[in-house]
Amino acid sequence: MGIESSCDECAASVVEDGQRILSNVVATQIPFHAVFQGVVPEIASRTHTQWIVGVVKNALSDAGLRPDEVDAVAATAHPGLLGSLLVALNFGKSYAWSLNLPFIAVDHMLAHLYAPQLQEPLAYPFLGLLVSGGHTIICRVDNFDDITVLGTTIDDAVGEAFDKVSKYYGFGYPGGAYIDRLAAKGNSDAFRFPLPNLYKGEHRYDVSYSGLKTAVINQLDQFRNPQERDPPKSEDVAAAFQKTAVEILLRSLFRAVEDTGLKTIVAGGGVAANSYLRSRLAERRDLVCHFPPLELCGDNGAMVAGIAYRYLIRGDRSPLDVTASARVKAFKRRYP
Ligand code: KG4
Ligand code: ZN
Repeated sequence: MGIESSCDECAASVVEDGQRILSNVVATQIPFHAVFQGVVPEIASRTHTQWIVGVVKNALSDAGLRPDEVDAVAATAHPGLLGSLLVALNFGKSYAWSLNLPFIAVDHMLAHLYAPQLQEPLAYPFLGLLVSGGHTIICRVDNFDDITVLGTTIDDAVGEAFDKVSKYYGFGYPGGAYIDRLAAKGNSDAFRFPLPNLYKGEHRYDVSYSGLKTAVINQLDQFRNPQERDPPKSEDVAAAFQKTAVEILLRSLFRAVEDTGLKTIVAGGGVAANSYLRSRLAERRDLVCHFPPLELCGDNGAMVAGIAYRYLIRGDRSPLDVTASARVKAFKRRYP
């Protein structure tokens, strides 16, 4: 049983042998946060508290199991919104304690990276591309729990840039899927947005999104100006922004490919659903790219249960005083 409540999805799933998904319940709070154009942490944790029992019960009944018929219980411990994380973590610990089952606390980013392995087992090492609303990580992956961060964002996460641009233009919340859909009908050459001037020295594989975000938001005056004879179209803004956002990511990723010689890329996190990112990577015939299925890109319990199985068979257990933390785990970092 994997339980996840790190942000605004309340999710639980039963997975067999780290691979076969027996149930996957994801209750999204998006409508509650959409009116605020962003996640309101207090609403998120209160709603998780109300929903968690029902979500876990549904995951069990969909799998046709009684609570004591699972072999272990896992929950996300970090990173995320603290008040949200604590709900699944404490619920999971209580569930495990009451039935004397092993408990396993998992890292949300490692769980995202595991999602493609719910389809097929993958051979290590490979390059990981972790792209979510809160994190952007390019890493070397040597095992399910052994990553070395090569590059990360020096400011905003890529998903955050999608969400902020969408918020300012009023495209919808959360922004990624709206921009992806709009961009499909737009001209990505209608604007030339700047690429960051990073990529030197220790920043060789890093990315930056605050400059792009500001440049796109600065177009708003023109966008909203009714005097403008030919005002920019939403589709074009979305397409040009998305093209640049993906280009920033791929520049760093392809540098890591060249330097490490690793030709397999495994993507995870909400932004891994992006159709333009997928098509750009598909163009690289020399690389093998694995993406999670769309329903496992965003937050879900299956990735939590899946990775937990790996810990379980290795004999790892988490103590019941394990606590949540908002920040990403201190992964190993390697500078070029
Ligand atoms: O992994 P996730 O569900 O939650 C976090 O761990 O943050 O990722 C959510 C992020 C949001 O920023 C959302 O806008 C983005 O994933 N996203 C997308 C797409 N679908 C979701 N970004 C770009 N294109 C998409 N199709
Ligand atoms: Zn996530």
